[in-house]
Amino acid sequence: MAHTIVIFGASGDLTSRKLIPALYVMFTKKRLPEGSRIVGVSRSHFEHEQWRELLRSTTEQFAGEAFNAETWNRFSENVFYQAGDIKDPDDFRSLASFLETIEPQENSGRVYYLSTMPQLYEEAIKQLGAAGLADDTDGFRRVIIEKPFGTDLQTAQNLNRSIHTVFREDQIYRIDHYLGKETVQNIFALRFANSIFEPIWNRRYVDNIQITAAEEVMIGRRAGYYDTSGILRDMFQNHILQLMMITAMEPPARYDAAMVRDEKVKVLHSIRRMTGGDFAANTVRGQYDGYLNEEGVPKGSQTETFAAIKLYCDNWRWKGVPFYLRSGKGMSCRTTQIVIQFKNVPHILFGEKTREPLGNRLVIQVQPAEGIQLHFETKVPDSEMKTRTSTMDFSFRHAPGGNSMPDAYQRLLVDSLTGDASLFARSDEVELAWGIIDPIIAAWRSPAAPDLFTYEPGLWGPDEAKSWMQNQHREWFDVCPVL
Ligand code: BG6
Repeated sequence: MAHTIVIFGASGDLTSRKLIPALYVMFTKKRLPEGSRIVGVSRSHFEHEQWRELLRSTTEQFAGEAFNAETWNRFSENVFYQAGDIKDPDDFRSLASFLETIEPQENSGRVYYLSTMPQLYEEAIKQLGAAGLADDTDGFRRVIIEKPFGTDLQTAQNLNRSIHTVFREDQIYRIDHYLGKETVQNIFALRFANSIFEPIWNRRYVDNIQITAAEEVMIGRRAGYYDTSGILRDMFQNHILQLMMITAMEPPARYDAAMVRDEKVKVLHSIRRMTGGDFAANTVRGQYDGYLNEEGVPKGSQTETFAAIKLYCDNWRWKGVPFYLRSGKGMSCRTTQIVIQFKNVPHILFGEKTREPLGNRLVIQVQPAEGIQLHFETKVPDSEMKTRTSTMDFSFRHAPGGNSMPDAYQRLLVDSLTGDASLFARSDEVELAWGIIDPIIAAWRSPAAPDLFTYEPGLWGPDEAKSWMQNQHREWFDVCPVL
């Protein structure tokens, strides 16, 4: 059945680059029901037709091959624009009347997408409530909230509290676009649709787990946001902890929103909070050389563009297994990957004749070379008994149907319409994640903060991150994916 999506902050980048192209592509795949309405709201004034024209050119650019003029015309018939100021109650009343004119009488649902500046989220929610737009007696009313969800535990709690005065938790969809990535969802399939991995997915066989989200790009023109945020807020509290939860969670009894999120939340509960000397021992902070010269960065800024942290899950499955989480801007390549490093063999048979094997490694390539590799030892042909590491390599792009991996927003937008919140963050999840990150930020801002190391762009972060690993007799898997 056709529903309505109302996008607040419609003149922003996210709408033209991601949301509209994603909705359009889902329409071409017939996963967005014919007749679904999209209403953009922001302060600028546009006629419907003007806005459609603007979106047409950006969608042509961002939807790539999926773009087709005839299909676009059918899709855009139901794209509308309504000027409105989030702070103005009259504008919300006008919006309510406008929605009535385009929605048929039968129970059609609505999703409100908050793609505004985060400072406006609370106001937008309040206005939606006051204008009666959250009332779901005539069809569902849901709200999607973009990241960042708060800037620390306190602000996240406040935000949750004010949203809950208008929307019930089951109406709230907190987006983390990493959960919309095909390869992130594939971790569920890898772990819970196969019987060979789960028995060894634990402390008996795993030495350590490394989750890396490296980006070659620097902060660009985002200094205003980035300098107050830093890498822990920007990448760890959300995306990287999400990857950790899915890697570490217990199998849920069913694949549904409540059970999946219950299991993820248990992982967050089990993460040992850092205290005292942990901040120096278990974290490495870095800033790329040149950050201070980026436009808009305050003089002498101590903001991190790189971080590596070591966390432990104190539970039966993972006790004693370090999770190394790492992310940085200005790294050697763009790659997000999860490495399950297995323990070495208990007794080396071929020791004297060859090098010591490294232990098996399962590499989940989240992006951009989506796939999975298993590294294992094989005999060097025609040698007496030498071994070397070989790789079994699965690539999504070379598998049937894998040549066009969908954008993360496609899946998430459709899920919000069908009411599946499995791939969205729940209130407790967001707050617990802040509870893990906040103390690290506080320690890094304190007079006793560990050193902030400068690193050359184009490498794998500061050298100290490397020596930190070596001191623990481990090494990073620093390999750029082959595209
Ligand atoms: C965003 C961060 O949430 O994720 C950006 O604000 C980062 O700084 C981006 O670049 C990375 O997303 P992706 O999908 O390109 O890995």
